[in-house]
Amino acid sequence: MEPAVSVTILLLFLPLLFLLIYRRSFKRIPPGSLGIPIIGQSLGLLRAMKANTGEEWFRERVRKYGPISKLNLFGTSTVFLHGPAANKFIYTCSEKLLANKQPASIRRIMGEKNLLELSGDDHKRVRAALVSFLKPETLKLYVGRIDEEIRLHLHNHWYGNNEIKVMPVMKTLTFNVICSLLFGIERGPRRDTLVKLFENAMEGVLSVPINLPFTTFNRSLKAREKIKSIIMDLIHEKRKKLEISGISSNEDLIMSLLSMKDQSSDSPVLSDEEIVDNIVVVMIAGHDTTSVLLTFLIKLLAEDQTVYKYVLKEQEEISKGKALEELLSWDDLAKMKYTWKVATESLRMNPPVLFTFRTVLQDIEYGEYIIPKGWQVIWASCMTHMDENIYPEPSKFDPSRLESQATKPPPYSFMAFGGGPRMCPGYEFVRIETLTMIHNLVNAFTWKLSLKDNIFGRNPMPVFNQGLPIQIELKKSSAEM
Ligand code: HEM
Repeated sequence: MEPAVSVTILLLFLPLLFLLIYRRSFKRIPPGSLGIPIIGQSLGLLRAMKANTGEEWFRERVRKYGPISKLNLFGTSTVFLHGPAANKFIYTCSEKLLANKQPASIRRIMGEKNLLELSGDDHKRVRAALVSFLKPETLKLYVGRIDEEIRLHLHNHWYGNNEIKVMPVMKTLTFNVICSLLFGIERGPRRDTLVKLFENAMEGVLSVPINLPFTTFNRSLKAREKIKSIIMDLIHEKRKKLEISGISSNEDLIMSLLSMKDQSSDSPVLSDEEIVDNIVVVMIAGHDTTSVLLTFLIKLLAEDQTVYKYVLKEQEEISKGKALEELLSWDDLAKMKYTWKVATESLRMNPPVLFTFRTVLQDIEYGEYIIPKGWQVIWASCMTHMDENIYPEPSKFDPSRLESQATKPPPYSFMAFGGGPRMCPGYEFVRIETLTMIHNLVNAFTWKLSLKDNIFGRNPMPVFNQGLPIQIELKKSSAEM
C-alpha cells in the first residue's frame, strides 16, 4: 500500500479509535447517577437514616445497580461497594490507593490530626500511642475502676426508680466512663458542659458541609472550638502535674499520651494538636457507639427470655465465686463467653456504625470498573450482616449462630469493628464496659419494655424516638443488701 494511502486511512480511523477508547473507559465507571452537584444523594440517605430505612436505601441501590454503583455523598463523587469480597478489598488495600480521608464535615469537626485522617507513619505513631493505653495489658488494671463507675451509675440512675429511659442513661454511663478513665475529668460542671458540646458536635458529623450561621454544620464547628479549649486546659493542668511529680503516668489516656517521649530525642511523641484531635475522636468514636450497643442489648434481652436466662446463669455463676461487693476482675470477664456472643449478635443486627468511607488516591480497577482518583468509596456493614447467604434468617436474634464452627461467619462478614490495620482500637474497652454493665444489671434488676413498638432512626447513630423506656424491678437479693 502507498504510504500516502496508509496515512489517510490512519487519519480517518484515528478519531474513531479515540472515541472507542474514550467510550470504553467512560463505560467502566460504575453505574448510577451523581445527582445534583454538592448535594447529590446526601439528603436522600440522611432522610432514610432518620426513618431507619438506611439499610433498605442501600439494598435498593444493590437491586438497581448491583454490588457496585456510583453516587454523590456529602459533596464528593462516591462509589458504593457491597459484600465480603468488597470488605476484604477495602481492608487489605494499600494506603497508596485507598486513604482514610473522611468527608469534609467529619474532618473539620474531629480535626485534621485525628486518627481517622492520618496515614502511613503518622497513623502508626498515633495509633500505637492510643493502643498502648487501650491494649488489654493496660486496661485489665482498670476493670475494677470501670466496675465502680458502673455501680455508681446504677445507684444514681436505676435504684429507686420504677421506669427509666435506657438510651439517655446509657449515653450518660458511657460518657462518664470515658470521662473518668480516658480523660480523668471529675464529675461536675466541666463534664456537664462537655456532654452538651459533644452532642452538638455529633449532630454535624454527617451534614452537608455548608458553614453558614444557623446550619447544623456551623453549630457543630462552634461546639468543636469550645471542646478544643476545654481539652487544652486539661492538657496544661495535667502537664503541670506530671512536671511536679517527675514521673510518667498511666492514670488516664491524656496523662499517658503526655508521658510518652521519643526515646532518641526525648521530645513528646504527640503534639498538643494531635492530643486534642485524638481525644475528640476517641470520645466521638467511643461513647455513642457503646451506648448504642448497651441499649440494643437491654432491648434484646427483654424480648428473648431464653437468651436472658442463659446470660443470667453465666453471670450468677461468676457472682457465686465472689465476696459481697467485691469488684470484677479481668479473669471474671474471661468467663463471660456467652454474654459476649450475645453482645456480638446484637452488634451484627444493629451495628452502631452504619457505613464507612475511604478516599481514592489513584484510579483503581475493581472488577470490570474503574474507581477514579479523587472519588470516595463507601460500604455499609449492615448490608453484609443482613445477607441471608452468610447469616440464615438474618433478622432473627440468635447468638447460637456464633457457637458452632459450622455456623460461624466467614472472614470479612462481621464488620461492626471494621478490620485490618484500621480495626477499632476500642474493642477491648467496649468488651470490658459492656460485660461489666450486663453483669451488674442482670444480678440487680429484672426489666421489661414499657412500649410495644420502640421506633428508632439514625442521626447518624441509632436514636430511639422515645428513648426506649423500660419498667425495672430491683431483685430481692439486691434489695436486701
Ligand atoms: C460498640 C462500640 C464500637 C464500635 C461498634 C466501633 C466501631 C468502629 C469501626 C467500624 C471502626 C473502623 C472505621 C473504619 O474502618 O474507617 C472504628 C475505628 C475506631 N474506633 Fe471504634 N467502635 C466502638 C467503640 C470504640 C471505643 C470505645 C473507642 C475508644 C475508646 C473507639 C475508638 C476508635 C478509633 C480511635 C478508631 C479509628 C482507628 C484507626 O483509624 O486506626 N471505638 N470503630
